[in-house]
Amino acid sequence: MSTKQWILHGVAAAALAVGAHAYFYYRRSAFRSRVIGIIPARFASSRFQGKPLVDILGKPMIQRTWERAKLATTLDRVVVATDDEKIAECCRGFGADVIMTAESCRNGAERCSEALQKLDKKYDIVVNIQGDEPLIEPEIIDGIVKALQTSPDAVFSTAVTALKPEDAFDPNRVKCVVDNRGYAIYFSRGLIPFNKSGKTNPEFPYNLHLGIQSYDSEFLKIYPDLTPTPLQLEEDLEQLKVLENGYKMKVIKVDHDAHGVDTPEDVAKIENYMRERNLS
Ligand SMILES: *[C@@H]1O[C@H](CO)[C@@H](O)[C@H](O)[C@H]1NC(C)=O
Repeated sequence: MSTKQWILHGVAAAALAVGAHAYFYYRRSAFRSRVIGIIPARFASSRFQGKPLVDILGKPMIQRTWERAKLATTLDRVVVATDDEKIAECCRGFGADVIMTAESCRNGAERCSEALQKLDKKYDIVVNIQGDEPLIEPEIIDGIVKALQTSPDAVFSTAVTALKPEDAFDPNRVKCVVDNRGYAIYFSRGLIPFNKSGKTNPEFPYNLHLGIQSYDSEFLKIYPDLTPTPLQLEEDLEQLKVLENGYKMKVIKVDHDAHGVDTPEDVAKIENYMRERNLS
């Protein structure tokens, strides 16, 4: 082997050794300025058929989410990505941009990824805005976008808020621990950290994970196809495969009363909450 070949081989091996995530770090460390918000919305749902179109105090839920997203100052564009003609028609009716995506998308990230590839323009960051959080604050959207823009080594950003003590042992409430620079260490359906008393520690600031997330667009192209990882499968938490593959995720802490609409019963709850606060 000639010296030159050996050097080339060495460089390639080193690149493989540090892992694919370094590729993003070097290639995309520039300020990621072009940002799109995508609201993935599917009609079929095991727990709540037609959920995006459910009426909340006189407006379809998806319209409420879209109106909130439009107020975010960091988004250049907001689109709805759906597999359903009724949802598309409704969204066009209130003025939203719609991208049709396949019925086969397994989750919101996959739908965002497909929508991104169908768009005519290029974007550096994609915010996945869940349609079932109609009271999402535009400031939270802006917060996670800025977190990703100022953390060039991260490919993913998301938000947490204070966990309510009554939710500590609810497996549907996902907990998150972060390092001292605000990067995610782990997510769990169990209580983390776990106090040796076996009870919650009233002094400890536990974090509840909020569904909203943003991705580096190059990362989003490969994210849905990353092979499922052991911790991801055991906890049934998609985001764990990001960490298990060694990518960095930035987490911001926000004040937010979570009012996700998962079941038909949640609709009355959120309507009461809005009436009490004169939100229309
Ligand atoms: C566990 O929780 C208790 C309060 O319930 C607290 O006093 C203690 O410092 C916590 N940590 C440990 C290691 O016990």
